[in-house]
Amino acid sequence: MSEVPPLNSYAKINWTLDVLFKRDDGYHELRTIYQTVSLHDTLGITETGGAIEIVCTDPRVPCDETNLAYKAAESLRDAAGIARGARIEIEKRIPIAAGLGGGSSNAASTLLALIKLWKVEIDERDLIRIAASLGSDVPFFLIGGTALGVGRGEEVYPIEQVHFEHLLLVNPGFAVSTRDAYEKLSRLTRPEAASNIPFTLLAAKGISGLPLVAKNDLEEIVLAAHPEIAEGKGWVLRLGARHALMSGSGATVFGVFDNSQMTERAEAEMRGAGYWAQRVRSVDAREYHATMFQ
Ligand code: C5P
Repeated sequence: MSEVPPLNSYAKINWTLDVLFKRDDGYHELRTIYQTVSLHDTLGITETGGAIEIVCTDPRVPCDETNLAYKAAESLRDAAGIARGARIEIEKRIPIAAGLGGGSSNAASTLLALIKLWKVEIDERDLIRIAASLGSDVPFFLIGGTALGVGRGEEVYPIEQVHFEHLLLVNPGFAVSTRDAYEKLSRLTRPEAASNIPFTLLAAKGISGLPLVAKNDLEEIVLAAHPEIAEGKGWVLRLGARHALMSGSGATVFGVFDNSQMTERAEAEMRGAGYWAQRVRSVDAREYHATMFQ
């Protein structure tokens, strides 16, 4: 039985997230700028006689066929028409349902690893189609780095890579349902598309010169429902971040700091206040692919 080297399955943040309108298929049309960051889970993948098995260090992660990595393996196997199996061991470090794309990242990493392990020949378009069927964020994790996401987020384009050394992720320790966040937004419908791709690209241009036009349309609603997230964001700003924003549908907020001393101090303060906090840096597309397999 063969195996692949352990994989780094990276987390993401959203530099900006514009929700335009609810589509006929129930999803929301959005414009976002994704960014991979250095926080990662580790995946250990080995071949089995035919079964797909998931093992995870975090008991809150389901290890059955509802796990996104399980679904990824199953979809790839079906698409390739092969009867192979894999055991996927997930060492979890990315908080769950936190707006950091942990499950989506695990799914994309699993696809890339199994293509190697099973020696699958697959058309890139088919791979992207499988990724999109698993979740809106999954195709992004096939490319990583700094990327524009359109449609329901599944259509991704690499853009100019940005580099931030001093980022802090802060999470109050509870999960936020992505579906619920979008549902609440629908009630405050904005039928008029307030922004478009050029606007989002303008935001991307502004990333290196923060503060920028970046915003997250889900933030107001999620913060109103969960004061702990708003308090966390307030703390991050008071601790010296020059920019702070909720990532995805939350509950994680990221802060952009100017130096390592301030970031370290803020991390310690936030941990002292009972938050999960982790210093990270951005990971560009080149590094993403160069370091995915350890
Ligand atoms: O695509 P994914 O499975 O990650 O999405 C989870 C849920 O978030 C969807 O079922 C939908 O309710 C909501 N969503 C949305 N519009 C998007 C992405 C997600 O409404 N663009």
